[in-house]
Amino acid sequence: MRYGHFDDQNREYIISQPDTPLPWINYLGCESYFGLISNTAGGYSFYRDARLRRLSRYRYNNAPFDVGGRYLYLRDNETEKFWSPSWQPTRTKLDKYECRHGMGYTIIGSTANKIEAQTTYFVPLGETLEIWKCKITNHRKKPAKLSLFSSIEFCLWDAQDDSTNFQRNFSTGQVEIVDGVIYHKTEYRERRNHFAYFACSEKLAGYDTQRDTFLGAYRSWDNPAAVERGKSFNSVACGWAPHGSHHVKVNLKPGQTKEIIFVLGYHENAGDKKFSPPDSQTINKTTVKPVITKYLDGKNVVAAFQKLKENWDNLLGTYQVTSPDIHANRMVNIWNAYQCMATFNMSRSASFYESGIGRGLGFRDSNQDLLGFVHMVPSRARERILDLSATQLKSGGAFHQYQPLTKRGNHELGSNFNDDPHWLILGVGAYIKETGDWGILDEQVQFENEPGSEQPLYEHLRRSFNYTLERLGPHGLPLIGRADWNDCLNLNCFSDTPGQSFQTTTNKEGKVAESVFIAGLFVLASKELATIAVKRGLPDEAKYYLAEAAKMEKVIYKHGWDGEWFIRAYNDFGQPIGSKVCKEGKIFIESQGMCIMAGIGLDDGKAKLTLDSVNKHLATKHGIVLQQPAFTKYYIEMGEISSYPPGYKENAGIFCHNNPWIIIAETMVGNGNRAFDYYTRINPSAREKIGDLHRCEPYVYAQMIAGKDAPTFGEAKNSWLTGTAAWNYFTITQWILGIRTGFDGLIVDPVIPAKWKGFTVTRKFRGNTYVIEVKNPNGQQRGVKKLVVDGREIAGNVLPACAPQAEPIRVVAVLEG
Ligand code: GLC
Ligand code: GLC
Repeated sequence: MRYGHFDDQNREYIISQPDTPLPWINYLGCESYFGLISNTAGGYSFYRDARLRRLSRYRYNNAPFDVGGRYLYLRDNETEKFWSPSWQPTRTKLDKYECRHGMGYTIIGSTANKIEAQTTYFVPLGETLEIWKCKITNHRKKPAKLSLFSSIEFCLWDAQDDSTNFQRNFSTGQVEIVDGVIYHKTEYRERRNHFAYFACSEKLAGYDTQRDTFLGAYRSWDNPAAVERGKSFNSVACGWAPHGSHHVKVNLKPGQTKEIIFVLGYHENAGDKKFSPPDSQTINKTTVKPVITKYLDGKNVVAAFQKLKENWDNLLGTYQVTSPDIHANRMVNIWNAYQCMATFNMSRSASFYESGIGRGLGFRDSNQDLLGFVHMVPSRARERILDLSATQLKSGGAFHQYQPLTKRGNHELGSNFNDDPHWLILGVGAYIKETGDWGILDEQVQFENEPGSEQPLYEHLRRSFNYTLERLGPHGLPLIGRADWNDCLNLNCFSDTPGQSFQTTTNKEGKVAESVFIAGLFVLASKELATIAVKRGLPDEAKYYLAEAAKMEKVIYKHGWDGEWFIRAYNDFGQPIGSKVCKEGKIFIESQGMCIMAGIGLDDGKAKLTLDSVNKHLATKHGIVLQQPAFTKYYIEMGEISSYPPGYKENAGIFCHNNPWIIIAETMVGNGNRAFDYYTRINPSAREKIGDLHRCEPYVYAQMIAGKDAPTFGEAKNSWLTGTAAWNYFTITQWILGIRTGFDGLIVDPVIPAKWKGFTVTRKFRGNTYVIEVKNPNGQQRGVKKLVVDGREIAGNVLPACAPQAEPIRVVAVLEG
């Protein structure tokens, strides 16, 4: 069953019924002010950091779903009936309903009682505020006398504290109400210099700022007392739960439409200009007032919305494809790229599945996120790389996470995830390939954010490399530490205490357990680093990197090869994991994908053999599972991976993040048919038709689809914030369609289904626009035989980067045959 449909022309997904299986969300804002918004207006907003600067409250894991949002209520003052035009929270039956999730905006429209309401929610570029523009139309034959109420519940900034520290928080809340604007200023009197505001374009009939007055005791958002009686209480919050609600009277003639604008925003004042007059406790509104005035004016709202659209035209214009597959086109051209922006901004912090409290930006995650983002805003990718590397430890290791607000490493979680450092090499490589900006390597970057410890970024990459060499285990493979890419393969944890963190508890010294995955990653990263070293005029150093990579490759063959696939790891007893000798977990996906991506097994047939094993043991109709057979009980020597019931998450779930590694590996052996088949199995758009099973949004990837061992095989979970976004984008654009960034130019190397007759990609790259037409007249899967650039045939398959030209560069590539 479908709950809506794609509108590719307008780059929207249109949801046509409000009770989707799960809240289907979208993100507002892509710079510093962000919001989550569901298809029924649920969600919340924050400035930069979802934990530390939360503007509005949300109730995770609530029943019913999705409580806390940007709510509006319409009330017919004659019949006294009221309803929510976004369906939630009153859940009154609507005669028409439609939610359009677009690029950075959501429009929720509905009709009830012949009154149509359509609200557009978005964050203007360059601002720290959001707009709710509500258009109300009277479709009745008689005049309508209506009331419109707004409602937002303020969060007391630190979302963690806000949901736990009630003995204090019930006494700190403060607001100001001036000229119809509600200012939320809890803690502004002491150490904060920021506040929130909620404004309305209309003259108010009343307001409420104390939640429990607005709602009434023992009531909820589905029948607030103020709405029910049709009149605000003009409550002024002091302590308890500050809230923002405006009451506006809307009288409409038959056919008449009225537009009402609400602005919810975040504002900071300079420390010495907090109050006006200076010796008072009143917020100084000098700098915020002009902003509010600007966006309560409909003309400015229209202009800001237009700018947002243009910005997305521009961002998405970097890579556009027309292929025979509608699902690939849609994901590449619109939704997958869009999701990459969300993962770049949010990392794994704030979604319907991530509370925004627990996790900062992951070191490995953010580096991988760059793969799908760098082409859109290279300057922000650059900044991210420098921020990440400044948290790198002197040892070359990395803080596993850092907090976006402070840009400091997270000490609670610490380090010792031994794959982390190598992702920096790959992230930097991806950035240079996109931009040709070799200068980034000379940037002076601190270690551990310590002034005086600055070294060129290139030195950071060296230390990433050395980190592994200095931490080899008994077989000469890299020690795993707390975990490698698989956060749940905790081989030094040995936890038997309920509630202990599998990631941070290490009860073993960690001198035995090794990772074949890190070994593969090391080979891949070392080859990348060697290429970079050559370009820096350090050929000897490059040779050294390659020699170490070759040594590691030998070790992988000797101790990491199981006969038909790569072993996954060695545990603390020196026994193999992911080997035919194991009873459960005989074969894992990660080492297969990573070793082949590193080029191992390409020359001797082992890569193909491995991929056939993956196909035989791991591939299912819903995607490739992480390992088989699933763990049926808890193994203390394995850690969290065996804590999940079979088929979920890392225990044999379809962990969509690493399916693309296998897909890339398939392209590397030239198997375009299988690569695209695997790609399609997890493509959310292709899964739209099984919406009842899939349940998550059909426009973005989810982290996991339940594996074949689970009773819910095929059900997706944890949508939006996952490395799946960047890896799938990278895979389809660079490896299947094969328009790949290289250090010297754009590589044209498609590996496609034999039945495709061709496709066209428009790619903006280093100041030029390339229009690349790939022709496949003889049903090949790979192999560019002929490359014609602006009418001239060139040798090889690289389009060398060149000075910007006025006209697009036209390229025709013909596959062999
Ligand atoms: C989550 C983490 C990521 C990890 C993966 C596998 O997606 O964010 O860092 O690699 O799980 O455990
Ligand atoms: C849990 C999740 C895993 C994630 C990790 C991050 O272990 O299962 O996917 O990477 O938490 O802390």
